[in-house]
Amino acid sequence: MTKVQDKNAKGWRSRTRQVHSGSARSGFGETSEAIYLTSGFCYENAEQAAARFAGEDDGYIYSRFSNPTVQMFQDRIAALEEAEDACATASGMAAVAASMLCQLTSGDHVVGARALFGSCRYILDEILPRFGIEVSLVDGTDLDQWQNAVRPNTVCAFLETPTNPMLEMIDIAAVSNICHSVSARLIIDNVFATPILQKPLELGADIVVYSATKHIDGQGRCLGGAVLGDTAFCEEILRPYLRHTGPSMSPFNAWVLLKGLETLDLRVHQHCLNAQDIVGYLYTLDGITNVIYPSTHRDADSEFLKQQMHGGGSVITFHIDGDQERAFRFLNGLNLVKISNNLGDAKSLITHPLTTTHQRLGIDECDRLGIKENTMRLSVGLEDPEDIKEDIVMALKSA
Ligand SMILES: Cc1ncc(COP(=O)(O)O)c(C=O)c1O
Repeated sequence: MTKVQDKNAKGWRSRTRQVHSGSARSGFGETSEAIYLTSGFCYENAEQAAARFAGEDDGYIYSRFSNPTVQMFQDRIAALEEAEDACATASGMAAVAASMLCQLTSGDHVVGARALFGSCRYILDEILPRFGIEVSLVDGTDLDQWQNAVRPNTVCAFLETPTNPMLEMIDIAAVSNICHSVSARLIIDNVFATPILQKPLELGADIVVYSATKHIDGQGRCLGGAVLGDTAFCEEILRPYLRHTGPSMSPFNAWVLLKGLETLDLRVHQHCLNAQDIVGYLYTLDGITNVIYPSTHRDADSEFLKQQMHGGGSVITFHIDGDQERAFRFLNGLNLVKISNNLGDAKSLITHPLTTTHQRLGIDECDRLGIKENTMRLSVGLEDPEDIKEDIVMALKSA
């Protein structure tokens, strides 16, 4: 297997990196990356096996540690994000959990933004406290709350921006300065923005996590995740945790996600164009209120947002006039747009966060976050937007 060492690789622009970076060809010289569906690797002799385990011989040992197809995915996503290193995981939640658990010990303190995807909140609310880790939740948009929450024993902070599902925007550079004042690492869940629209490491964050299940695959085929950061963190802290706990990405999924990365830029920009078009249309419709999208956000003109996120993304949140029953009638009246809690897919998908992705938080906490009985989260796909509009109008009529 040879790593493709193009002499211009260091100067490649982002769109070239997402197509070529990380490629490592076998002796057959294949154009598309090979899938190495193997759990283990054979050694030429016992000495070589011993040397590999001692870290004195480069080469693969076991696919729970690393695998050539998974390595190509890691190298490609690291190149796209301009990160020193990346570790692939079996799912986005495996990435989120590993990014925190690998560095925490009992007695440590973590600060989290309150507005998070339900499973991420579960880690902060339920799992970390079980191990004697104290967690403070803050309103992520309020920098004073971050400032007051950090302490000398704060080891890391976790936030997503834009948030799921209310699309709140949090100032990554400002929060990373606050975290660094106590030597804490800032972890960003960059799922909604994607590496195409927002690069948290450039803004000062220390670690980025992805659910590759979303836009990186973008076609609803497989689960995957990634944690990106500097070499010291990935090599010394994260990789030992992953090796010994085993949330590894399968080589087949790595191959699907490599192919996803090749078209990520094109797809994300088309998602943004479609979403922008639908946002404008939703404003004109009776029966739909409170349309939320990053470019229509109250802070959209602020300096931090202009520098932080370069496009609105694929998700729109809005309210249906009426109660939950009417919201459900609207959902059930859709035909083209599918009811599904996934997002970032070529197919338009819609969900009712209060009763699905955020159900576990309960009505009161959802209310505090702005998630109501009539809140809808629409992930705009790659269909012709006119068909999506017609579907929405038809469902509104039937509701
Ligand atoms: C913001 C966010 N983070 C993490 C995840 C978890 O990703 P996965 O489903 O790949 O485990 C999701 C999934 O919906 C998400 O929306």
